[in-house]
Formats: sequence, structure tokens, C-alpha cells
Amino acid sequence: MQPLAAFGLWRFVEEHRHAFEPPVGNKVIWEDSQFTAMIVRGPNARRDFHVDPSDEIFYMLRGDMVLEYMQDGRRVHQTIREGELMLVPALTPHSPHRPADTWGLVVEIKRKPHETETLRWYCDACDALLHDVTMHVADIETELRHAIEAFDASLELRTCRHCGHVQDHSAGGPDMAPRPPTLGAPRGTRGAPRPPAP
Ligand SMILES: [Fe+2]
Repeated sequence: MQPLAAFGLWRFVEEHRHAFEPPVGNKVIWEDSQFTAMIVRGPNARRDFHVDPSDEIFYMLRGDMVLEYMQDGRRVHQTIREGELMLVPALTPHSPHRPADTWGLVVEIKRKPHETETLRWYCDACDALLHDVTMHVADIETELRHAIEAFDASLELRTCRHCGHVQDHSAGGPDMAPRPPTLGAPRGTRGAPRPPAP
């Protein structure tokens, strides 16, 4: 058994600076753990919702983020402020929105070989499902990136079959400014273009 070692979180960040780039910008801390614990840096440019077979823990180290999630077919926005924790129950479709230079910790349970997880995209205008991808994730850092880029590249996948709305690609996300929790914004007001992430 190797000796157990404690280390500084911000020193870990400094040593892996290259990993914290859009569109995902994360780094797994311990590769040989039952947990997948990741440090995540904003901005992120993701428009997909993640459906995890297990619970997830969100903790904001620096700055505030907004977690968008689906509740009974409607979008909800929940702000997680610096220093706050939030538990996202298993199978809750959720989409994290992280402003620039925010830093967070996410703890998930590592997937077992028989488990799958899903990425989903919902229409910004009517909340209908646009596209989903279910996969076994051997390497979350590369598989996530590939699925997001494939959606962004396809106008067909980004066009809503229910209302005809054409979804922005990942660089055009919702308003990233933290806001109070709401039970869904008025329809058709989300998805305003914003400048591409740096
Ligand atoms: Fe739609």
C-alpha cells in the first residue's frame, strides 16, 4: 500500500492548468478511487443535460454557478453560490452553467461496466427533447467532448421536430448570470446568443 498523502487543491489545479479548457474544462483528481471527483473550471459552453445513474454532489469553490435541470418536463434554474453544496439525485437531467473563472468540485460514483449514462438536449423554445446519446463511459473526459461536438456540428439534430426552433450550438448558451431559483422562465425567452466562450 502506498502511503496516504494530503495535498492542496489549488496546487493540484496549478499542476493541471492545461486540462481546464472549454468546452468541458475538468480534471479527475483520483484515477484509482471508487469516486469520480472532478475539479471543474468555468466558463463551460455546454448545452446538454447529463443523466447520471447515480447521485452527484456539487460544491462551489469559487464563484456562483447555475444548474439547469428538468423537473416533470419543465426546466428549472437553481443557483449554487460560492461555498454552497447541492445534491443532484440519480437520473435527474441536469446542465451546469459556469461563468468564467468559477471553480467547482463535482463528486460522482464511478460507473460500473454494465451502467450507462445519457446526454440529452432539450429545445430552448418548447423543452421538447431534441437528441440524446447513451453510452458506456470508459473515459468521461474524451467521450463527453466527442458527443457535444457531434451535436454542435449537426443542424438536423439542433432543429426541433416539435416547434421548428433551431437550437444554438454550444457557444450560444442561456444567460449565465446567477439568478434566484425559478420554476422555469417564460417560454421562448431562453437561449439568447452570447459571445463564444474564450
Ligand atoms: Fe421546440
